[in-house]
Amino acid sequence: MFQINENYQKLPGSYLFSTIAKKVNAYQAANPDANIIRLGIGDVTQPIAPAIIEAMHKAVDEMGHAETFRGYAPDLGYDFLRKAIADNDYRARGCDISEDEIFVSDGAKSDSANIQELFSANSRIAVCDPVYPVYVDSNVMAGRTGSYDKEKETWSDVIYMPCTAENNFVPEFPKETPDMIYLCLPNNPTGTTLTKSQLQEWVDYANKVGAVIIYDAAYEAYISESDVAHSIYECEGARTCAIELRSFSKNAGFTGVRLGFTVVPKDLKCGEVSLNAMWARRHGTKFNGAPYIVQRAGEAVYSDAGKAQLKEQVAYYMNNAKTIKEGLAAAGYTVFGGVNAPYIWLKTPSGMTSWEFFDFLLEKANVVGTPGSGFGPSGEGYFRLTAFGNYENTVRALERIKAL
Ligand SMILES: Cc1ncc(COP(=O)(O)O)c(C=O)c1O
Repeated sequence: MFQINENYQKLPGSYLFSTIAKKVNAYQAANPDANIIRLGIGDVTQPIAPAIIEAMHKAVDEMGHAETFRGYAPDLGYDFLRKAIADNDYRARGCDISEDEIFVSDGAKSDSANIQELFSANSRIAVCDPVYPVYVDSNVMAGRTGSYDKEKETWSDVIYMPCTAENNFVPEFPKETPDMIYLCLPNNPTGTTLTKSQLQEWVDYANKVGAVIIYDAAYEAYISESDVAHSIYECEGARTCAIELRSFSKNAGFTGVRLGFTVVPKDLKCGEVSLNAMWARRHGTKFNGAPYIVQRAGEAVYSDAGKAQLKEQVAYYMNNAKTIKEGLAAAGYTVFGGVNAPYIWLKTPSGMTSWEFFDFLLEKANVVGTPGSGFGPSGEGYFRLTAFGNYENTVRALERIKAL
């Protein structure tokens, strides 16, 4: 008789956003006239920018002619895209990253879930709390997290780094020494970030203790303050301790198109073994390349027209963030984030739990957000709203919340 991977049985409940969707669907079924505004899931709403659509059309046409048809893409990504990334995201910022350290993929979710494969089964992971759930769940599936404590909602072998208003959402170095440290900056869900000098301290720490930082920079495009690093490779010494994950989902609206990349510097080694070579081997074996049409779309993100159009798109969402943040503050809420990220993190009022506030907001204002506790125990008593809605709905949602 076959045996299953028992680690999957350890995963508690369903994925956070499935639970939310079920609750919202049940409410809508019971209240068919309710006009529900969704500021919960971090999905974008603005259409793909014209310069990118044009590039995709051109690539589609190429596929229809024998002379320009493309079959399997190179598994690590087309040179034209890897060069555009290296030039614009790294060299232009003074980061020493070359094309062959960039691995093109179908997005940061899969990369953030898959990257743990490179590390031994007994590696200790450290995560911020609250946290993007994929980091922990993918390590649960790999059997790296020990046993689950239902009361505390924590795993015995995971090192949690609480990020709350008390420490200004800046994780402290853990007492136990981790092997892998997940940092998501700017942060989902708190919408906060670290300054470059605070990040430098993490790089120095990782190099000192021999840990690898898995640096998820999916929200890099939303950074507005000058003392915040756009890439971890702006920090000295990051080439020997950091892997960076990037996504085209939030800066260019590719949540449905699917494109991302991971940077694994050649200086990142365990003894003589190069993690760059390991990730190349993994990609070659398990991934057959992002589609040509999509990689051409990615290239257009870095064209002059693409850059100008995406700057406007990011500004549009950040105007929503400002609207939410200022509106909530005026209504007496304590709010965080929304300056370098498209997320607003608020303290639930009157001591409500995160899920109590979720139900309250859904029933009384027909607005959907995300309960902070869904991202980890330190998220209890907080709530996340996203700036990815359209402006009109964002304003309407705020009017309803203010009227409560
Ligand atoms: C922190 C973080 N990383 C990765 C992702 C997923 O990115 P992608 O769409 O590229 O898979 C998300 C999406 O919400 C995210 O919040």
